[in-house]
Amino acid sequence: MILSGRVLAADGRTPAADIVVYAHHTNALGLYADGSDETEWSRRHGRLRGWVRTDSEGHYRFETIKPAPYPSRALPAHVHLFIGEPGRRPYYIDDVVFDGEFGVDRDYRARQELRGGSGIVTLRRDPVSGWIAQRDIRLEVHPASR
Ligand SMILES: [Fe+2]
Repeated sequence: MILSGRVLAADGRTPAADIVVYAHHTNALGLYADGSDETEWSRRHGRLRGWVRTDSEGHYRFETIKPAPYPSRALPAHVHLFIGEPGRRPYYIDDVVFDGEFGVDRDYRARQELRGGSGIVTLRRDPVSGWIAQRDIRLEVHPASR
């Protein structure tokens, strides 16, 4: 699965360069860890994790696999995203979830926090990449510094 998009400033228009996007998600069985020797980060976030930095036009892109829901089916399949803006504490935004799939229903939509904009994406099939998921991200409004 390719997960990509643009990071935009809080105005929703201006491309945001040099923003770190960190992603982690379950494997195709809905599990984070893979049972191998685990580092602290692997134990907490699983094996499938990584970060990228946006280019001058705010683009980011991950090449990964499509996650599955937890075996408990407690949540839809999801990709956790965190944003690192220069000089600010990292913060989470709404998970990426897949429209029309298990758990992405009316209740889920009503509960969205809309941090970074909606995380509900429409998957497209691509003969080369498999799944394509596009999610644009709007940065948080920060209180004016004094
Ligand atoms: Fe999770």
